[in-house]
Amino acid sequence: MTHTETVQLRLLINGQWAQGAGKELASSSPADPEKVVASGGTATVEDVDAAMDAARTAAANWAATPMAERGAYLARAAGIITANADAWGSELAREEGKTFAEGRGEVLRAAQILTYYSAESDRLAGEVFSSPRRGERILVTRKPLGVLGVITPFNFPIAIPAWKIAPALVFGNTVVWKPASTVPLLAMRLAQALVQAGLPDGVMNLVIGPGALGDRIVNHPDLDGLTFTGSTRVGRKLAATAAEAGVPIQAEMGGKNASVVLEDADLELAVEQVLFGAFRSTGQKCTATSRLILQESIAEVFLTRLRERLSEWKTGDPTDPSVHMGPVVSVSAAEEIRAGIAASITAGATVRFEGDVVGLGDAFVAPTVLELPTGENNAWRDEFFGPVLAVRRAASTAEAFALANDSAYGLSCAVFTQDLSKVLEAMETIDVGILHVNSESAGADPHVPFGGAKKSGYGPKEQGGAAKEFFTHTTTVYLRGA
Ligand code: UN1
Repeated sequence: MTHTETVQLRLLINGQWAQGAGKELASSSPADPEKVVASGGTATVEDVDAAMDAARTAAANWAATPMAERGAYLARAAGIITANADAWGSELAREEGKTFAEGRGEVLRAAQILTYYSAESDRLAGEVFSSPRRGERILVTRKPLGVLGVITPFNFPIAIPAWKIAPALVFGNTVVWKPASTVPLLAMRLAQALVQAGLPDGVMNLVIGPGALGDRIVNHPDLDGLTFTGSTRVGRKLAATAAEAGVPIQAEMGGKNASVVLEDADLELAVEQVLFGAFRSTGQKCTATSRLILQESIAEVFLTRLRERLSEWKTGDPTDPSVHMGPVVSVSAAEEIRAGIAASITAGATVRFEGDVVGLGDAFVAPTVLELPTGENNAWRDEFFGPVLAVRRAASTAEAFALANDSAYGLSCAVFTQDLSKVLEAMETIDVGILHVNSESAGADPHVPFGGAKKSGYGPKEQGGAAKEFFTHTTTVYLRGA
């Protein structure tokens, strides 16, 4: 099932697997950096140009291919991904550091996303309006944008690419994709599934390498749209460049998501869901719970129970089935997170829990619960993207919801209560793109919109009906008999 030899990396340009002529890149297991998972030459800017050319050349025929046929390629790719779930899930665990169970689950999720979009031709393709003029109807039809740049992060190395590439393709766009350079193998696997599914040459091109390749994509004159998920800093930079070129962009960026536990909540359920939201995937989800707001009267009971559950939470080798949490993606990411924790403590935070990572590698960060005093604290504001939960207490529901809104970001929020009127109040008050009632802040389904309010997102949302808003543009057709 698992093969552990180093895989040779390849780029995919115009249907051909090619060796990159750029600098060597090796992805290694963050749990054990000696273990090189994949290695090979990166793409050069000339490779990006060749990929853009291929995507441009393929665009007209792909746009003219019936949507049902485009969807059929995705359905076939979904089958291939499903058949490889164990092997690729294991590679994902080794390359990115999440557990095998999460890795396999993510691979299957990618297949589910492709399956969902494969059926797009069965859904609404446009709208018809009446006309104020006799003998006329007004149609709103949709067309692909053209050549799409896709830039994806490390934390969901196959699911996030799938949820961008699948709608891009089914709506008739061609793609040049640059994945995060920490997870090139899983990118290759998704590309491989599409190639094996028979996708025509040039329709999806993969360039592996550093951030400079993304700059080349966004500055390329042939680019018709760019979809990005990643850091706020990079997203804003890309958005500025795209704006200058007049290219539409969809950017999913940071989050600082709160879980609010009110005093009437089912505490056992809330503890479990907060634990999952904060520490699954080592907290490396833009939807992860990184702030916890507890109503004062249940705060101590909740924290005691959370500590008990956390002491059963095993951190270690992500390929060991008894382990709940692996390392973060790299030693440098771990160092930044540890520095953030230290700064928070210096600014007055109390450590309410710190897990055990003794004897594990430098990319392991102990799961940490910090209780913050009133006043400013970096652990309240900054996205750590790691297993760190910042806690504050609130005297009332109103104060709890105000604290939930006390962030520049507005991606997701979880509220735990059994009181319908408080649920309704949360829906009205909390300004986020995704609100969970009695479930963890993370998670997304392919058929409903995904994305944030406030500074978490820029441009149209992803998934479900929202995907169409970004990956197509409309033509309004005034239709009158001659
Ligand atoms: C999830 O919550 O399962 O980068 C998905 C991210 C998000 C995806 C979250 N775009 O973490």
